[in-house]
Amino acid sequence: METSGNAAPRPSAPAKTEVGSVFISNYPPFSFWGEEAVPDLLNRFQQPVQADVPMGLYLHVPFCRKRCKFCYFKVYTDKNSRQIQAYLDAVTREIERVSAYPAVAGRKPRFIYVGGGTPSYISARHLRGVFRALEARFPFDEVQEVTFECEPGTLTQAKLAAIREVGVTRLSLGVENFDDQILSDNGRAHISTEIYRVLPWIREMGFDQVNIDLIAGMVGETWDNWKANIEKAIEVDPDSITIYQMELPYNTKYSQGLLKGESGEVFADWATKRAWHDYAISRLIEAGYDVSSGYTMVKRDKACRFVYRDALWHGADLIPLGCSSFGHLGGVHYQNHPSIERYVAAIEAGEAPLRRAFKTSETDRLRREALLQLKMGRLQVHPFREKYGVDIREVFADHLDDLVATDMAHVEGEEIRLTRQGLLRVDSLLPGFYEEKYRGSRYT
Ligand SMILES: C[S@@+](CC[C@H](N)C(=O)[O-])C[C@H]1O[C@@H](n2cnc3c(N)ncnc32)[C@H](O)[C@@H]1O
Ligand code: SF4
Repeated sequence: METSGNAAPRPSAPAKTEVGSVFISNYPPFSFWGEEAVPDLLNRFQQPVQADVPMGLYLHVPFCRKRCKFCYFKVYTDKNSRQIQAYLDAVTREIERVSAYPAVAGRKPRFIYVGGGTPSYISARHLRGVFRALEARFPFDEVQEVTFECEPGTLTQAKLAAIREVGVTRLSLGVENFDDQILSDNGRAHISTEIYRVLPWIREMGFDQVNIDLIAGMVGETWDNWKANIEKAIEVDPDSITIYQMELPYNTKYSQGLLKGESGEVFADWATKRAWHDYAISRLIEAGYDVSSGYTMVKRDKACRFVYRDALWHGADLIPLGCSSFGHLGGVHYQNHPSIERYVAAIEAGEAPLRRAFKTSETDRLRREALLQLKMGRLQVHPFREKYGVDIREVFADHLDDLVATDMAHVEGEEIRLTRQGLLRVDSLLPGFYEEKYRGSRYT
């Protein structure tokens, strides 16, 4: 998710929030992944992987109560309990299939991320069933973190108890905004009283970590409301607060309206969203939080880790499960079929539900890790020298010179560190780390 992508690598770029902005979550860009690389992947599945590479699981739950107008994820709002069960049955078969591949067999996951869509939309019975299936094939004894995304209005006390009981350690709640008018204008299904109803239950259940998501730049946002939002976020006292600047990728309802010339909404420009985000960072630092990445603030006095993010940004393997999921195994990126129907049909036919793949080179992997880790605001030279035998200050010399000259970054000895203004627009700086052949292309 987040800040603008390929089109705006310079601070002087147009400040309007244009349709087509993206949140950079991977490299090389998805538009270079293709069906032609799927045989490479199938081949890769058959070979054992270096034993010391950490592995995690990502499960996509593509159901929501309502489609938010800004949302760019693959979600369905029309599936009943029977259809959800059919999807989870297919996921169970995928788990059985994948766990038997020589590249996966015997490896124990270090982290699990259940994302969406809205994982908390499914019933406690469905939830227990899918976790049983996971644990039957992927023993949890080395799992350090299980993240589960929730939408406030879908939670009951009983469901939260089930979420806790199956082993979730990190619960992430999509608050987005505390103002009911803004929530409803942007198509959210929940209202603010639901946030306040569920938070005490969440606290009572004793999850190791509770995160809330906020979006800077929802339609209707103002300075006064944003400041009030940050105060309310501090009051509810989460362990971490993730702030996304509103993006308008092509597949959102907002973007479709804008492209058809039908949308009357006013979208805050990038400078305003950055100013809101900047304010939030300063206020949260005052209130006892530290910057953990360009998006996430974590409580200073609590040792908050985010194993999924850190492992992924340092090159861990990630087994994608469910429709539209992305992952990475033994140097090959891949994605499952985006549509639920194609995904379930492939599983029922006894096939791998794969849509596209990309076999990375060592250069791709080096660049990917460097640009993803830069999202944390700092890059250490030493680990890249150890892993890839290069000095990243030399590999990225031209781009780093530009970043330093425009006051987006400093290079201090063995550390490359973003300034606050660099951190606030980190996604727009990342295409500068791309290899020439991937620049200026579509992202997805
Ligand atoms: C999968 S959702 C989280 C769980 C649940 N579906 C919910 O929305 O409450 C992931 C997060 O992505 C963020 N998000 C979605 N669309 C976005 C956009 N266009 N720009 C910025 N952030 C966005 C929201 O903060 C949302 O909480
Ligand atoms: S609830 Fe979450 S996943 Fe569902 S449409 Fe809204 S932002 Fe997207």
